[in-house]
Amino acid sequence: MIHTIDEELFTLVAEIEQLKKERKAVILAHYYQRPEIQDIADFVGDSLQLSQKAAMTDAEVIVFCGVHFMAESAAILSPNKVVLLPEANAGCPMADMVDAEGLRAYKKRVPGVQVVCYVNSSAEVKAESDICCTSSNAVKVVESLKGSEIVFVPDENLGRYTAQKLGRSLQLWPGYCKTHDRLTKDDILKAKKEHPLAKVIVHPECREEICQEADYVGSTAGLILYAQNTENQEFIVGTESGILHRLHQVCPTKDFYLASERLVCPNMKSTTLEKVRDALKTLTPRVTVNEEIRVKAKEALDRMLAL
Ligand code: 13P
Ligand code: SF4
Repeated sequence: MIHTIDEELFTLVAEIEQLKKERKAVILAHYYQRPEIQDIADFVGDSLQLSQKAAMTDAEVIVFCGVHFMAESAAILSPNKVVLLPEANAGCPMADMVDAEGLRAYKKRVPGVQVVCYVNSSAEVKAESDICCTSSNAVKVVESLKGSEIVFVPDENLGRYTAQKLGRSLQLWPGYCKTHDRLTKDDILKAKKEHPLAKVIVHPECREEICQEADYVGSTAGLILYAQNTENQEFIVGTESGILHRLHQVCPTKDFYLASERLVCPNMKSTTLEKVRDALKTLTPRVTVNEEIRVKAKEALDRMLAL
């Protein structure tokens, strides 16, 4: 029997819907996920919105279509739920650029330093931190801290952007996003030449010289809102390609140009519909966090969510 691709897709989606009901599961997806994953998700959002959803949901199972630190945050906030990461190897190279041991050594060298930790980090690193932040609330989080000795881990670019916004000095950990780092100033200048009327919107994980060329810098949710609320018809987009799916949905008459074809995060793209189906079927791969670490990491996440 010959099945068309559409038929196969239809069957797969129906299977996921059925399993989701049986498992009392919710599917959360980040804006960088493949379009077909965003389409089957119950909720698509940026890192902050996803952690808020994970903390609030009454589902028994959370299928996290994102990368490991996101599923781990869900497991920290909802310890009694089963948290699944359909592709066990979907990690975040930036999160791996800081570890708890290195951070402890730093804290020993700089006594009294307060640690602001980007959610793109492991549970162990969160447990060593005073407060977490995402790209949408980093400015608010740092603003809430008194004292001048603050280290921002692990994203040097978001840390610098936050410091500049507040006119405050922050110690910056030398981490970065390997995907956003591929975007060069030449890419932006070339795109601007090709689309002179377009507004440039970029993520703060981009390098400093990229942010300086932008009309708007913000988290994925922030970029989508900006595109929606701005009269402009054309946008040059400096963040991971997956965001284009939502941008086209919410602004169907506007034009979006990805600033570089290299803006693809292989980890974010490693989740497929087949893997989501299999995760729901087998309730694996499951993400769990050691209880002692979880309790400490939750304090840092809770301080952020309280803001
Ligand atoms: P936001 O969706 O919070 O902007 O995060 C970007 C990111 O790199 C997630 O991995
Ligand atoms: Fe990590 Fe960058 Fe991929 Fe986000 S886009 S998961 S920060 S590597």
